[in-house]
Amino acid sequence: MQAAIPLPSPGTSVRSRAVVYERPGGPEVLRVMRVDTPWPRGREVRVRVVAAGLQPWDLAQRSGWFALGRDDDAFRPRPLGCDFAGIVEAVGDNVRDLLPGDEVLGWSDTGAHREHVVVPEAQLVRRPAGLSWIQAAALVASGQSALAALEALGVAPGDRLLVHGAAGGVGSMAVQLARLRGAQVVGTAREANHDYLRALGATPVRYGEGLLARLHALLPSGADAALDAAGGEAALQASLALVPDPARIGSLVDFARAEAAGARPLRVRCERRRLLALAQFAGSGRLHVHVRRVFDLVDAAAAHRALAQGHGCGKIVLWMGRPAAPAAATRRRHRRLA
Ligand SMILES: NC(=O)c1ccc[n+]([C@@H]2O[C@H](COP(=O)([O-])OP(=O)(O)OC[C@H]3O[C@@H](n4cnc5c(N)ncnc54)[C@H](OP(=O)(O)O)[C@@H]3O)[C@@H](O)[C@H]2O)c1
Repeated sequence: MQAAIPLPSPGTSVRSRAVVYERPGGPEVLRVMRVDTPWPRGREVRVRVVAAGLQPWDLAQRSGWFALGRDDDAFRPRPLGCDFAGIVEAVGDNVRDLLPGDEVLGWSDTGAHREHVVVPEAQLVRRPAGLSWIQAAALVASGQSALAALEALGVAPGDRLLVHGAAGGVGSMAVQLARLRGAQVVGTAREANHDYLRALGATPVRYGEGLLARLHALLPSGADAALDAAGGEAALQASLALVPDPARIGSLVDFARAEAAGARPLRVRCERRRLLALAQFAGSGRLHVHVRRVFDLVDAAAAHRALAQGHGCGKIVLWMGRPAAPAAATRRRHRRLA
């Protein structure tokens, strides 16, 4: 039997486990340590995280890909992660639509590979019935990136869309969302993922040497738009050869290369309206969230190693554990006390 979620005393912070990196480096710099998460104020919500997505961005951050500041000695352990699904534990005074016990998914700007987060109410939506915890956690960031990319490229009914890296976390969402918009999709992937891509509604094509010739055979009159979720010179060159308008070529990976070619660098910021749309698609079964592998929070380093292999279909998710939601009467009483 699950232990009921312990409702906290109003005003108290909570100390719970988080994955942090102690310094930039390989997966060995990851530690699980206890960190404090404050009581939510105003329109903030404190969520007990059940599961959280892992993205290449987490690996880039951990390895010190971005500027860390002037003084490495000042480096403090930092949490990783962005998207999560969990149970509302406490709400700020001005939160009106959520109560302790509500099941939500959302994103955090202060890490999500942790057992508790505090986020603005505007960064959460309710978990749809029918979407499992791990699927809900895996949907948020990749789904948003895919949807934002399709919006930026203006993908519309009848378009022929080329997706590079179509089997990955972002690519698999982009394929399905483009199909929902009425586009035809050709997606690049390893042969091992071709059946998966067919099941999502795309025509698969192997990347690597000879890619352009294979694409010309599948798309003899070219494509209308291309989304690069893989990176590399070959992906961009193939897109430029097939899509006449470079403004309809976007890269989530190679910004400098895309800009130099007149294509679009795609830097995505999460927006609640997109998350609402994604939750609706996934909740109604029109968008399938495929989870490649689930790792316990304490096995975060193994999860990072698995993602770093750079191949596979769908998402990798970290599991924090699921407490039972409090009973409705307890939730109402807690709301009055808070
Ligand atoms: N700019 C932004 O705001 C933003 C947002 C989200 C993601 N991203 C970036 O987008 C990229 C994809 O993210 P993701 O979460 O989808 O990663 P992912 O889950 O690791 O997927 C990447 C996929 O690329 C495929 N792949 C590997 N080498 C390839 C190649 N040479 N050609 C074509 N496909 C290849 C792999 O599938 P196979 O097994 O078929 O090889 C893999 O599934 C990452 O670089 C990420 O950092 C950027």
